[in-house]
Amino acid sequence: MSNLPRHIAIIMDGNGRWAEAQGKSRTFGHERGAESVRAITTHCAKHSDIERLTLYAFSTENWKRPKIEVEFLMKLLERYLKSERSTYLEGNIRFEPIGDLSIFSKSLRNVIDDVQTATMGCNGLTQCLALNYGGRDEIVRAANTLRNKGEITVESLSAQLDCSHDVDLLIRTGGDHRLSNFLLWQAAYAELFFTKTLWPEFTTDELETIIKKFKTVERRFGGLN
Ligand code: FPP
Repeated sequence: MSNLPRHIAIIMDGNGRWAEAQGKSRTFGHERGAESVRAITTHCAKHSDIERLTLYAFSTENWKRPKIEVEFLMKLLERYLKSERSTYLEGNIRFEPIGDLSIFSKSLRNVIDDVQTATMGCNGLTQCLALNYGGRDEIVRAANTLRNKGEITVESLSAQLDCSHDVDLLIRTGGDHRLSNFLLWQAAYAELFFTKTLWPEFTTDELETIIKKFKTVERRFGGLN
């Protein structure tokens, strides 16, 4: 029996190291990272098995980075969403953000809104970008919304989260073995794959190799098969 990774989540790590290794600025690495985002998204959209791709683009902790890098990432996100609007529509890809967007500039929020609204009717892949996202922050916001509404259950909390979809396959590039506050709730039974490949060098071939391995794993969800 083979499993299908209906929801893939990726921690896109290694942009900075990739750029620094060739004497370039970290921002150059993010720029190339955005190209990997486009390539992996377009590839997943052609895979009928994959319904959802969630990418960790900016965490609640990333604000600690130098101002110049944060500002660059904000501009890159805005530029990416504007320039890829047609890619989303042509690929029948629905765009959904998760995270606390309230802190972003009005112009970035407008672009996020625009692409989300424009792609609402797309029913192929959903590409979800985690923006000012943290798993703990997401759970706390959901719990606060529910706190005066009676007993909180797994189902009610799950439904209140930014993302209510369990992750099947979680990949982290860049060589580290940690979750870094990404989809803590949704990854409860995810299969975890770690690769040393830095995000700008992560290819659709490597993704396919990982998917192939994923399909051979027996997933028991705590039971016995
Ligand atoms: C981690 O690499 C990456 C980020 C914090 C940002 C991710 C952003 C992108 C992939 C590009 C922009 C995204 C979109 C959707 C357009 P790092 O900087 O921590 O790398 P390092 O570990 O080598 O320093």
